[in-house]
Amino acid sequence: MKVVVIGTGYVGLTTGVALAYLGNQVTCLDIAPEKISKLKNGQVPFYEPNLPELLEISRANLNFTTSYDEAGIGSSDVVFISVGTPSLPDGNADLTYVKAAAEALGERLDHAFTVVVNKSTVPIGSGNWVGTLLREAYSRRKGSRPDGMYGVASNPEFLRQGSALLDTFYPDRVVIGSEESRAIDTLTNLYRPILNQDFPAPVHLPRPDGLSAIPVVTCDLASAELIKYAANSFLALKISYMNEIGHLAEKVGADIKQIARGIGLDVRIGPRFLQAGIGWGGSCFGKDTAALVAISKEYGINMPIVQAARDVNYHQRTWVVDTLLHELKILKGKTVALLGFAFKANTDDLRDAPALDIARQLIQLGARVRATDPVALGNARLFHPDAGIIYCDTPMETVRGADAVILVTEWPEYHDIDWVEVKKSMDNPLLLDGRNFLDRHEMVRLGYRYVGVGR
Ligand code: UDX
Repeated sequence: MKVVVIGTGYVGLTTGVALAYLGNQVTCLDIAPEKISKLKNGQVPFYEPNLPELLEISRANLNFTTSYDEAGIGSSDVVFISVGTPSLPDGNADLTYVKAAAEALGERLDHAFTVVVNKSTVPIGSGNWVGTLLREAYSRRKGSRPDGMYGVASNPEFLRQGSALLDTFYPDRVVIGSEESRAIDTLTNLYRPILNQDFPAPVHLPRPDGLSAIPVVTCDLASAELIKYAANSFLALKISYMNEIGHLAEKVGADIKQIARGIGLDVRIGPRFLQAGIGWGGSCFGKDTAALVAISKEYGINMPIVQAARDVNYHQRTWVVDTLLHELKILKGKTVALLGFAFKANTDDLRDAPALDIARQLIQLGARVRATDPVALGNARLFHPDAGIIYCDTPMETVRGADAVILVTEWPEYHDIDWVEVKKSMDNPLLLDGRNFLDRHEMVRLGYRYVGVGR
């Protein structure tokens, strides 16, 4: 099929490249020329494992452009809107980019039936709003109605950064929402290879054993939009629940990792997303939970559970600072080393990263903060140059003279650091393991004052 993807971020580019790999003709459009020129040179403008290799393999089916006219909207079967929808101060999503994309699309609809898909996380009910924008833009340009030329659908993504391609090729389910059966049929056909799992697995993304067919949920537009919010908020809630139990575990001398294992074996709970730690960050959990609370307020209903998941989560960052204060008594003039800066391992994304909040709070209390990250340091220096943080290229440089080290992001390489050397170069062997990532007994044996989360 002929596909256009608008927005070449973590979601858009992953979707476009994966669909190109599956044999579709894909044009990826972005208004940022520097992104498009990088992509034309085969470079991915952000860190996502396996995406550069798959971009290379799928090159023949991919075009990149900054121009809506070049994208061939009117003759496309499917157009994905996967532009950014950042949070506004009141928690609602900023839909400026979605509106611009929908209007540019609307003007260019033509006689081929085109499915316009909201891939960006948009407020519930936006599908109808996008439809209105399309119609109005078309009518302004052509003076008539684009009846029969398009259908609007919601096809929420469930990609985790760091495993975005894996989650695209081997999802737990595909959700397609629309009021138009033609739109549902078109998207079901587009995803057929994924639903049937009958495409050749990419060389570095082997198909999980036993995966044969993927369930598809076809429903109305609003349900599909709400599925995305409900799923993300539930995942965020699972994590905050464990962090809440973790604070009690710490008081009673229990170990939250054993508790997670003990409850996770209950198939009704499941073992995943039960890792206590400094909490979630990233561009989705914070944004989706905030948007869900905001939109429910618009409809006059409260969501105390989702709100509580947020409150517990953001308190984790303060808990880290309070714990350091408790351990060090005075933070003014002390040096704290942060190992890891990205909101999680296997990404360079700093959006809503706990490290930023923790560093900000420590600096406000007069501490000196040094930080490193194997992948996200470039973004840190680019987006947060004046945060008062000393960015270091290596863990050893970061921990030099430190009065405390916090493991913020669970990068695998932090298992292989020479923790004997680290201890020697620190002024005080305080180690706060923000992800319960290290071996507590080993660290104590090496002479660290080890503090975990919920243990
Ligand atoms: C999430 C959703 O998982 C995905 O379905 C959605 O499409 C986008 O948002 P992502 O934010 O990329 O994906 O990463 P994820 O792996 O979900 O982690 C989110 C945050 O939760 C990270 O900060 C991670 O460190 C934290 N986390 C995750 C925990 O603290 N504990 C856990 O058990 C799991």
